[in-house]
Amino acid sequence: MKIGVLNSGGDCPGLNAVINGVVGAADKLGWEVYGFIDGFEGLLPEGGDYLKLTPDDTTGIGKLGGTILGTTNKGHFAAKIGEGDVAKIPEEIMSKARDNMDLLGIEALVVIGGDGSLTTALQMNQEGFNVVGVPKTIDNDLQATAMSFGFDSAVTSVVDGLDRLQTTGQSHKRVMVLEVMGRHAGWIALWGGIGGGAHVILLPEIDFDLEKVADFIKQREIDGQRSTLVVVAEGARISGGELITKGEGSASEVTLGGVGQVVAHHLEKMTGKDTRSCVLGHLQRGGSPTAIDRILGARFGVKAVKMIETGEYGRMVSYQAYHVDSVPIEEAVHQLRLVNPDGEMVDTARALGICMGDR
Ligand code: F6P
Repeated sequence: MKIGVLNSGGDCPGLNAVINGVVGAADKLGWEVYGFIDGFEGLLPEGGDYLKLTPDDTTGIGKLGGTILGTTNKGHFAAKIGEGDVAKIPEEIMSKARDNMDLLGIEALVVIGGDGSLTTALQMNQEGFNVVGVPKTIDNDLQATAMSFGFDSAVTSVVDGLDRLQTTGQSHKRVMVLEVMGRHAGWIALWGGIGGGAHVILLPEIDFDLEKVADFIKQREIDGQRSTLVVVAEGARISGGELITKGEGSASEVTLGGVGQVVAHHLEKMTGKDTRSCVLGHLQRGGSPTAIDRILGARFGVKAVKMIETGEYGRMVSYQAYHVDSVPIEEAVHQLRLVNPDGEMVDTARALGICMGDR
C-alpha cells in the first residue's frame, strides 16, 4: 500500500515527530510513504510534489523543530475563512489532487493540521478521498482532543520568557508585559502565565478593563510588590474595544499583534510605573519540541497509520487523558475549544491571586 502524509497551516513543534511516527509504522506494514511538500499544495503540480520517505530519512527527526516537508497557511485549499465561515474547495483543485494521487497509486492520506486544514481534510473525505486527520495547533484550540502536540513547547517558551522578564523586571521595579500567541483561545497565555508566575493574565475569552489591571498593580505597589508580570494573548481585547491587528495577513486570517504594546502604554500612564513590553511571537513556534511533544507527535503518527489499516477514514487522532483514540473530524472542527471563563483553570489562576483583568 502507498500512503501520503502532509502538514498544512502554521508549523508547530512536533510535526517531524508525527512524520517519523507515520513513516515508522507504515514501514512495519511494508507500506510506502509519500510526504507532500508545502501542505496540500504539493498535491497540485503534474505528478505531485513529494519526497518518498523511509525510516532512513526520518529516524531522529523527532527532535527537530519545524517540518521537513515545509508548510504554508495560504494557497488553493483554504477552507476556513476567519473564525467560522467555510469555503468550498473548487472542483478543479480537488480533481487535480485526485488525479495525482491516482497516478502515484496513493490510497490514503494523513493530514496533519489545525481547524482550517482539518476542514479541508473533511471536505476531501466527503469527496471520496481516504483521509485521516492528526490535530496540530500550538493554540490548543481544537475540540475533541484534550491536547495537541506543539502546545507544551509553546507554553515552555512562555514560561522561559516570563522567568527572564521576572528578573529584569524585579531589578528595575517595572511592569513587564509579554504578548503571546492565542488568536481565539487563551490556553497558551493561561498555562504559560500560571507556569511562569504571571500576576496578570489577559485572554481573548475575558474582555479586560485596564482600570482594574492598573488598580491591581497599584495595590501590589502598596503591598510592597514593586514589579508585576503581565501576560496578554494576542487576541485579547480591552472591554468594548477591537482586536488589535497588524494587517491582512494570510488569505483567511488577519495578522494579530500589538496588544502588548497598547496595554503597556496605558498601564504606564495609569500607574506611573516604568513599563516595558515584549512580543514572544514566533519564538514560541520555533525550535526543538519538548519531550512531551516529541512523544505525543510520535504516538499520533503511529495512530494515524493504524487508523488507515483499519479503514477509519474521516476521523481524527485524538488525545484523551493518557490514551490516544480517534473521533470523527467533524467533531473537531465544528467549533473551537476556548477557555471557559468559569472553568477550573481560570478558577485556579484566580485562587493564586492572579488578576484576569475583569474584576
Ligand atoms: O494559529 C496558530 C498561530 O500561531 C496563531 O496563534 C497566530 O496568530 C498565527 O498562528 C500566526 O501565524 P503566522 O505564522 O502566519 O504569522
